Amino acid sequence: MDPMVTSSVEQTHAIGEQLGTLLRPGDVVALHGELGSGKTTLIQGIARGLGRNPETIKSPTFVLMREYPGEVPLVHIDGYRLEGAPTIAALDLELGCSPYKITVIEWAERFAGLLPEAYLRIEVAHVSTHRRRLAISGVGARGQELATELQTAAVSRRKTSV
Ligand SMILES: Nc1ncnc2c1ncn2[C@@H]1O[C@H](COP(=O)(O)OP(=O)(O)OP(=O)(O)O)[C@@H](O)[C@H]1O
Ligand SMILES: [Mg+2]
Repeated sequence: MDPMVTSSVEQTHAIGEQLGTLLRPGDVVALHGELGSGKTTLIQGIARGLGRNPETIKSPTFVLMREYPGEVPLVHIDGYRLEGAPTIAALDLELGCSPYKITVIEWAERFAGLLPEAYLRIEVAHVSTHRRRLAISGVGARGQELATELQTAAVSRRKTSV
């Protein structure tokens, strides 16, 4: 699948928002990418797509997991501080990933081997100061379905905005 490239925070928010409208209870989104690549920014868009205020989404620097209540609770897990703490990682994921909630995970590589069998994977990378590359792939049936839906939605958005 071709990566998507965004040239502003707003464009990354728009992709997140689109994804937010596609997500259903039980879905998991695993985000990869270096510091400041745009993982939290993408989650702010997801929150907006789920009808939440994106400004409530902050990097949970000192907290591993935060839950934003709503019709479908949004669980935000950030593995940045997790190095060498697999027990806490496992516990956190178990608490976070629920069939009744939507779970988004920053630094998903810190949860290697603990992720569910199906999830959407997004790798965010710096291209330049304001440009980011988003490589989207799906793991498992539901992950692949989401990846295809997001790609299709992005293509039709591009067509209508020309
Ligand atoms: N196209 C873009 N998409 C997303 N963020 C962008 C873009 N261009 C510039 N930025 C800036 O990059 C930064 C992204 O920060 P963000 O907190 O989302 O990164 P992160 O991947 O969550 O980092 P961390 O690993 O520290 O949690 C913000 O300062 C944002 O303004
Ligand atoms: Mg972050």
